[in-house]
Amino acid sequence: MRKVLFVGITLALAISTSNAQAQIPTWTEDVAPLMQDKCMNCHRPGEVAPMSLLTYDEAQPWARSIRLMVQDRIMPPWHATPEYGEFGNNRRMTPRQIQTVVDWVEGGTPEGPGDWTPPEYPEGWLLGGPLGAPDYVFEMEEDFMVPAGGEDININIIVPTTHEEDIWVRAAEVRGNSRVMHHNVVRVILPDGSEERTGRLASATPGKQWDLFPDGAAKLIPTGSTMNFSLHYHPSNVEEADRSRVAVWLARQPITHEVHSSVVADPGLIIPPFEANYESRGEFVFDTDAQITLMKPHMHYRGKDMLYQLVYPDGETETILSVPEYDMNWQISYELARPISVPAGTKLQVIAHFDNSEMNPWNPDPSLQVLWGPDSRDEMMEGWFDYRVELEEPIIPSSAQVISDGGLD
Ligand code: HEC
Repeated sequence: MRKVLFVGITLALAISTSNAQAQIPTWTEDVAPLMQDKCMNCHRPGEVAPMSLLTYDEAQPWARSIRLMVQDRIMPPWHATPEYGEFGNNRRMTPRQIQTVVDWVEGGTPEGPGDWTPPEYPEGWLLGGPLGAPDYVFEMEEDFMVPAGGEDININIIVPTTHEEDIWVRAAEVRGNSRVMHHNVVRVILPDGSEERTGRLASATPGKQWDLFPDGAAKLIPTGSTMNFSLHYHPSNVEEADRSRVAVWLARQPITHEVHSSVVADPGLIIPPFEANYESRGEFVFDTDAQITLMKPHMHYRGKDMLYQLVYPDGETETILSVPEYDMNWQISYELARPISVPAGTKLQVIAHFDNSEMNPWNPDPSLQVLWGPDSRDEMMEGWFDYRVELEEPIIPSSAQVISDGGLD
């Protein structure tokens, strides 16, 4: 009798202390808001992720898998190390946030008090809400048919433009059939065939659809330019048609800074068969004072790591991005929280490594010597970046005059 009572008391004590020590997080209070921030952009109906995680009923059956993915930092996809750079679009979870998810799953995935209202995602252009209807939409001339199943498809498609005078763009949004379009990088090709001036206009990657520049900053699209859509399709289990398009919103304010997108590349790379750590380097020298705003590494299946570093005119060096485990499946843009100012003469160095060994699970064939090329079986070493340069004199775009009823000042 006495013994039984004693056991009962310890049990009660044990339960009450464990409750006090570890409050089990709940869906409505802790997990849903966190997942709204880190996951739901991709895990919602019609997006590229395989399942929606908007509601408790949708997320709860995935709990074990969610815990694994989050603990191993496979989800959310984000590959920059936290040591360098501070990014406005940072998706990386803090150890504490990871613990919240783990505790929720281990604590039996309680739903918690109250109701959780999942965020609403607008149909049509995401920027349509804040900016209104786009000024131009440039669209593929015909559907591209993505067959059911099968391998991923990489293809470049040229899209004509229709504007009759040069336009200055303050925002652009890229859309396609998100059931199969994994990503699309849109570049501006000038009438003379060059790409240098504007470069990448905007890109859509899982969870990201638009590029928006601050007031006074804009990208130029000269008349007669074409758009190169660099598309990556990931077939679904049914045949799908895609007609991707890019919408642009014109600058309404005097333009003080031109935004350029440029690239450090190493087209001469020659990766020997079975080489596990081939190094490739490239460099860009700023010939004017500028501000770097964004970086976007691009390699193919053998891409291993990439590092961006600045060498200032006084010789000081600074690492601004390090992606130690590159993954070609995620074309992530790293958007700096604050632009980095570089004086004229600063060098941007990009250093990348490639793994052409059989240890690389993505490697299509380690016995090949690999050269530069657009196909995923070839390689590319491209360190894309956006920077802006102050114009000598502000440009008043005609789009500002058209809509202004004296409201320019
Ligand atoms: C940038 C878009 C994106 C974000 C953000 C994202 N996911 Fe994913 N997730 C995907 C895609 C796409 C897949 C499909 C697997 C693949 O293609 O690698 C996936 C797969 C998964 C899977 C595995 C599904 C399976 O079939 O086993 C889980 C679990 C998961 N995500 C959970 C999460 C959680 C939890 C978060 C937030 C903490 C998150 N994801 C954030 C895009 C995303």
